[in-house]
Amino acid sequence: MEAFLDAVSRAYYEFDEDRLMIERSMEISSQELIEINTQLKSTALIIKKSHENLQTMQGQLMQAEKMAAVGQLAGGVAHDLNNQLTPIRGYLDMLLSEVPSTDPIHSLLQEAGQAALRCAEVVQRLVGFSKRSTQQKTALDLVTLLRNFQKLLTNFLPSTIRVDANFEINLWAIDGNETELHTVLTNLAANARDAMPDGGVLTLDAKNAELQGQVIGEDIHSGNYVVISFRDTGVGMLPETIKRIFEPFFSTKTKDKGTGLGLAMVFNIIQDHGGWIDVSSEIGVGTVFQIYLPKHTSGAELQKKEIHSKAALPRGKETVLFADDEEILRTLGKTFLERLGYHVLLASDGKEAVELYSDRKNDIDIVILDMTMPHFTGRQTLQKILSINPAAKVILASGYTSEGTAEELIHEGAKDFIPKPFTIMPFAKILRKVLDS
Ligand SMILES: Nc1ncnc2c1ncn2[C@@H]1O[C@H](COP(=O)(O)OP(=O)(O)OP(=O)(O)O)[C@@H](O)[C@H]1O
Ligand SMILES: [Mg+2]
Repeated sequence: MEAFLDAVSRAYYEFDEDRLMIERSMEISSQELIEINTQLKSTALIIKKSHENLQTMQGQLMQAEKMAAVGQLAGGVAHDLNNQLTPIRGYLDMLLSEVPSTDPIHSLLQEAGQAALRCAEVVQRLVGFSKRSTQQKTALDLVTLLRNFQKLLTNFLPSTIRVDANFEINLWAIDGNETELHTVLTNLAANARDAMPDGGVLTLDAKNAELQGQVIGEDIHSGNYVVISFRDTGVGMLPETIKRIFEPFFSTKTKDKGTGLGLAMVFNIIQDHGGWIDVSSEIGVGTVFQIYLPKHTSGAELQKKEIHSKAALPRGKETVLFADDEEILRTLGKTFLERLGYHVLLASDGKEAVELYSDRKNDIDIVILDMTMPHFTGRQTLQKILSINPAAKVILASGYTSEGTAEELIHEGAKDFIPKPFTIMPFAKILRKVLDS
């Protein structure tokens, strides 16, 4: 009996030890399971986040592709329009300087000039889409730019809209293009105006911001920025509208009121300036657009806006070779140059320009070349002229070009650049400056 009890108790102990071992290993397994489960959860989160990122990137890619297509189309149209606008603006400008301001014709010419200027602005809008912008950037004093813009707003907005402006006094300079930034401001103001048909308040703010990993929109940002904000008390937008506002041709307005290019262009310009734009809106409350532009960093001197003077046109008696494939532009160039006192030689394409230059290099003091010509492009013509005479003075003229940017060609030996459509004062000034250099 005793032996039996002994065996039972041994068996019980052994059984208990086994049970303990099983329990311990089950405990370990369940701990492992918990750990694996946690790991699985975080992996799932990572996959979800990657999927979201992929979707955002796909969206951005689609937007970029659309922009590129529109850009290509717009670039071509802009080039043609610019060529037609050049003589219109040029002659109007010339006539204006000849008709005294007391003459009633003066104000008619001024109106025609304003209309041509607006057309040129539309062309600029289109150029805004083309990838290779010829717009140069300089260190800009934004307070001056914003103050001038604020003055324009009083004419632009109906009296039912009040403008409140508040600009930080020591606002940092930024690297920017004044015309393009003006386009941005005008588009945002036009949208704010349309959003407040019954009046309201437009608040324009500008301040410096030192970002240290702040989340704005969908991204994290660091660095020094100038933030311009546009707040309206208008109709506001639904979330599904907000998603599409930067798409080219997206508009909720009637055909005669909106093309849907405004914000697409704003987006492009801001991106080209190394910045970004953020938007928030609420139906019936209003909308806020915030533009972030990186602080100016290069060593370039801050350029204060040039004060327009009524100074006399700088003239000269030198010989100018003017090359452009469009007859209307050759006639305009000749008229301008002869009016300024210069002797003029004309060439209708790059090949003719090179031949004329090689025949008469000792007579020709300066060459003005269109950048987009048949046979030889402006760039090829420039290279051939420089191979005949490395010291040749060549100025390039162009509005929109796919043939390298102005900076690139200046690097290759051109002395300066005249933007098209040209008006007589800058034309005369650049010419004299290069001739005297
Ligand atoms: N401040 C705003 N308040 C309410 N809705 C806005 C505002 N700004 C833009 N939107 C909406 O975004 C759309 C796209 O704007 P965008 O400026 O690109 O084109 P548009 O104003 O319709 O036409 P365009 O600017 O070419 O004349 C507008 O049609 C409008 O629905
Ligand atoms: Mg608009």
